[in-house]
Amino acid sequence: MRLKDKVAIVTGAGQGIGEAITRKFVAEGAFVAMVDVNEKNLVNLANELNKDGEKVLPFTLDVTNAEQVKGLVAKLVEKNKKIDIVVNNAGITRDNLVVKTSEADWDAVMNINLKAPFVMVKEVFPVMKEQKSGVILNASSVSSLGNVGQSNYAASKAGLIGLTKTWALEFARYNVRANVIGPGFTETPMVQTVPDKVKEKIVEKIPLRRFATPEEIANAYCFLASDEASFITGQVLFVDGGLTCGF
Ligand code: CAA
Repeated sequence: MRLKDKVAIVTGAGQGIGEAITRKFVAEGAFVAMVDVNEKNLVNLANELNKDGEKVLPFTLDVTNAEQVKGLVAKLVEKNKKIDIVVNNAGITRDNLVVKTSEADWDAVMNINLKAPFVMVKEVFPVMKEQKSGVILNASSVSSLGNVGQSNYAASKAGLIGLTKTWALEFARYNVRANVIGPGFTETPMVQTVPDKVKEKIVEKIPLRRFATPEEIANAYCFLASDEASFITGQVLFVDGGLTCGF
């Protein structure tokens, strides 16, 4: 088991890649604090995973709300005495051509995708600093390189790369690693918003000629969260079927 007795926080855990990360981490021996705004998904998944003993703890909260995040961290430390891994996976899209993008959609995407990891890590890092170990994983995307209709999303996902590399520098002296995963197009509810004709064009550009499964992305998270990646920090790992290769 690669994550035996590790305590992790996974945001956006109720569906898609977050759900797959949670399942993978539990299968590898971790205890997971599952965070999502969607209570129904979260509770259903928690009930399933806790059938044979407590493996997860669901927290229904808004990752942009600093007070709620503070409460989560305090509760988890009280219960488990440590936090080994935090996965800032919660994210949204509000796709539109830039001229049609409202300020509200710009702010919503920036707040959830880029500001929330900052809010979370401000609370979690002091715990990791004290214990002199920890792993922070942020969720970027192939869209960080630019994608028509995704100005807000691309900016937030590119921002996460700079933020993660900065954290790698600031936190290394405390043995806290920070890396960023860049998933390619993945079979999740998020991708269901993409028009079919756009999807067909995307698949043509992917060397492996298909979208990823959420489990394939979760495998990369598991590797970077584990001690197998103990000398890897400040890196971006694209898991994209080769989409970002070539020009
Ligand atoms: N480049 C430039 N202009 C384009 C264009 C392109 N590639 N595609 C469309 N346009 C133009 C059209 O020519 C049209 O112009 P006119 O009005 O002058 O004729 C205009 O945009 C509107 O075209 P549509 O009616 O097709 O556009 P729309 O407003 O209905 O939708 C869109 C546009 C929102 C960008 C839509 O095509 C879309 O949702 N695209 C998918 C975006 C995407 O890839 N999202 C990924 C989501 S998954 C994810 O994000 C996960 C991850 O991390 C990878």
